[in-house]
Amino acid sequence: MKMLRIVLHCLFFTSLCFFSIVASATSTLNSVYSRDTTSLNGEWQYIVDPYKTGFYDYRFKEMSEDNPAAYWNINTSTDKSKLIEHGYSDSNTLQVPGDWNSQEEKFLYYEGTVWYKKSFDYEKKHQDNLLFVYFAAVNYEADVYLNGEKLGNHVGGFTPFQFAIPSSLLRSKDNHLVVKVDNERAKDAVPTVNTDWWNYGGITRDVMLVETPSTYIQSYELKLEPTDETGAQRRNATISGQVSLGNAKKQEQVTIRIPELNLTKKVNYQGENTAFEFSVPHLTLWSDTNPKRYEVAIETQYETIKDKIGFRTIEVVGNKILLNGEPIFLRGICLHEEIAPEIRRANSPEDAEFLLGAAEELNVNFVRLAHYPHNEHIVRKADEMGLLVWSEIPVYWTIDFSSEAVLNNAKNQLREMISRDQNRASVIVWSVGNETPVSDTRTTFMKALIDEARALDDSRLISAALEVHYNEGMNTINDPLGEFTDVVSVNEYLGWYVGLPEDTRTAKWESVYDKPLLISETGAGAKQGFHADKQTRWSEEFQAAYYRGQIAMMEEMPEGFSGITPWVLFDFRSPKRNHPGIQEGWNRKGLISNEGEKKQAFQILKNYYDRIEKASE
Ligand code: GCU
Repeated sequence: MKMLRIVLHCLFFTSLCFFSIVASATSTLNSVYSRDTTSLNGEWQYIVDPYKTGFYDYRFKEMSEDNPAAYWNINTSTDKSKLIEHGYSDSNTLQVPGDWNSQEEKFLYYEGTVWYKKSFDYEKKHQDNLLFVYFAAVNYEADVYLNGEKLGNHVGGFTPFQFAIPSSLLRSKDNHLVVKVDNERAKDAVPTVNTDWWNYGGITRDVMLVETPSTYIQSYELKLEPTDETGAQRRNATISGQVSLGNAKKQEQVTIRIPELNLTKKVNYQGENTAFEFSVPHLTLWSDTNPKRYEVAIETQYETIKDKIGFRTIEVVGNKILLNGEPIFLRGICLHEEIAPEIRRANSPEDAEFLLGAAEELNVNFVRLAHYPHNEHIVRKADEMGLLVWSEIPVYWTIDFSSEAVLNNAKNQLREMISRDQNRASVIVWSVGNETPVSDTRTTFMKALIDEARALDDSRLISAALEVHYNEGMNTINDPLGEFTDVVSVNEYLGWYVGLPEDTRTAKWESVYDKPLLISETGAGAKQGFHADKQTRWSEEFQAAYYRGQIAMMEEMPEGFSGITPWVLFDFRSPKRNHPGIQEGWNRKGLISNEGEKKQAFQILKNYYDRIEKASE
């Protein structure tokens, strides 16, 4: 019997491995919110496990799957003599989606492992359908188990992942899904141990079951091919794209429909990333002033996936950024994925409305989603509102650039970010990092990421937020990574970290690159409601003087200056900011306080953007 069990176990594992290889090797399901899903959001039971007792035995060896002491095994034994030292109960629950830090005082600074458990019943609609469990994000590392069997592992706190649930594992009643979440910072993680934001841990975004036909639409991409036409309308526009099916077993046909354009395109599926192209007689382009999107349906004989897609082109010509063939100036702002008044990660459509609504009051047409991919609701909201987006992987500051494993981790997060949002017209910039210290090793590492991004998506701009060299009289933009990016973007804090606001009056800038230049960060701190003269640090008047000086300096930026995303929309939580009475765990560079109160500098930036917008009409 034991031998048979081992053989069966091996066979099972082979099938599971095949599934898990298939599931983890391919990108996640596109347009998951328009699919046949069953939400697993809500209350999950948890166990806090700082010593990882539920994962390692007392010799710190990973426990075997059927070890009853492992926290992925639910003890249902009624044997009163049985030794049981763990369990899940309704007295310990956390809301999903949601970071744990904001849900209970004991979790405020917690960094480590928490085990989450959700029980659910499930009957598949058709027995040969497939069932996936999809996580929109878990920060930072997830080990996922169903009914005591491991489905897989995922590393990276801000991108979606999924695992196939083998039919042999699924029960119609009382399935238990257990997720080991570990947000412990590590030198070889991405991001690494040092970040200027709160390390919110947990199942921070939506979780759902997704049922698909046996052969399913895995991912698709549609984009407008650039021509030398300009303006908001196109005649005889060429749309190209690709589609990938999962588990395609025979010659399949995929149909692309855009009803408003009377477009039906039939594609004979040839395998992963089957390419297609078609032209349409007339097309209204998506832009910041007219975020036009079309209903698009991707069909097979088994299912139809619907999406709303905008078509636009974004290019660099010389030192200009062209949207739909016309130069554009990016009036932007940086923001974290955080609801400051409630001190928590943003995770819902309502949160997206709150954040982007506040940005829109500044009269921006561009948002830099710092410093990691934000949730899909925010990017889809930007699509709807006509806000251009800079999306970034958390290759932040002192990453271990010498490590192949760290590079592969960063590449994987880049692939997952691009795969999820490749159909979002709002996304115009993929950023491969922020303020990484210049060295040959770092530049080689970052160039590998740029090459990977370009290979995955040659229709968007690739950049990274670089540092500058301040010096009296002439500030120089010459980071070697600028040779490889489409746009040279720099973070400068002249008047805050270097000098004082009046120094901006005489500041001069030069760039060694004939490329568009973005100021990807500039900002000063102020405690909302603290008023003093403009020489007094942390007063609203100091921050206002900083913005006045910066704006005056922007008028003198070199040729190719194409936009600015000041740091930052809201005050945000950071363990690095501990000035008593002023910061107390908050980075105060927000134009809006953590309580939602605008500071004087908010209006100063808005007036600047109103002026720029008027001048461009
Ligand atoms: C840096 C960094 C931000 C940080 C900011 C600051 O430029 O990119 O993440 O919060 O400066 O110092 O406030």
